[in-house]
Amino acid sequence: MSTDLTEFIERRKKELNAVILAHYYQRPEIQDAADFVGDSLQLAIQAARTEAEVIVFCGVTFMAESAKILNPDKIVILPELQAGCPMADMATGEALRAKKAEMPGVKVVCYVNSSAEVKAESDICCTSANAVQVVESLPPECPILFVPDQNLGHYIARQTGRDITLWEGYCPVHQVVSLEQLVEARRRHPEAVVMVHPECPPDVIEASDHALSTGGMLKLAKTDPAQEFIVGTEEGLLYQLRKQNPEKKFHLIKSEFICETMKLTTIDKLARSLETLEPRIEVPEDVRIRAQKALDRMIQIS
Ligand code: 13P
Ligand code: SF4
Repeated sequence: MSTDLTEFIERRKKELNAVILAHYYQRPEIQDAADFVGDSLQLAIQAARTEAEVIVFCGVTFMAESAKILNPDKIVILPELQAGCPMADMATGEALRAKKAEMPGVKVVCYVNSSAEVKAESDICCTSANAVQVVESLPPECPILFVPDQNLGHYIARQTGRDITLWEGYCPVHQVVSLEQLVEARRRHPEAVVMVHPECPPDVIEASDHALSTGGMLKLAKTDPAQEFIVGTEEGLLYQLRKQNPEKKFHLIKSEFICETMKLTTIDKLARSLETLEPRIEVPEDVRIRAQKALDRMIQIS
């Protein structure tokens, strides 16, 4: 990144009392420019705690929406408005309302990778870092509907032994990881520990050593004595894994592992958004109030 750009970003941050939050899938220069880099849970907690007046969210829409839901009086900026999450788009508030009507008494657990409207229809949110804990916090007898990621939902059902109805959503980026790719990666790196994201298909999770959130993978890489890891998630995480563990080796489970929408945010767009204070994220107040309840419940037990 040019010194001019770095200086501009630093200066504007101070002038605006702004904080830059970035997800681990962001481009390396964005991760370096951020005040805080994290997984979805860490970023939601950070957004809930910040004293900054402006939150610049380098991630995808649902993340910035969560920040706005938790901070209605603050300005929340997403430098690139097209940065959506295709999985979040696989559930709508209307479809969820219809499903709930078919399942009286159901508790809806909603993965944060969802729209504000879907959160508003849910009882509690979760991320991949706390999903098991969230489901275990619900009364054992109550039926559960998990929305929208069927793979994460399937993983939690196995971990908790709970009967969970799954929505048929998935992450197009993680869904295409195959068991063959995992087997081939193990053949090439027989000493490596395999860690995959729970958005991967069930057979891939089953054949891995660990299913973890991005933050969980970083923690494992630091604490596990292994020197080599096969990584089953978006390649942006490799930048942080290598930065924090320069002596260890990290191999992507397959050659291209990219979330295109996460990469739409560039350093130029970040600088421009700090200059113009646009584009802003807004959530209708009636939706926001109901969505906040589901997010607050999650944050309380995390
Ligand atoms: P994490 O919460 O593990 O960072 O995952 C977010 C995400 O979008 C995974 O695709
Ligand atoms: Fe959404 Fe998948 Fe991209 Fe995560 S990796 S933001 S779930 S499309």
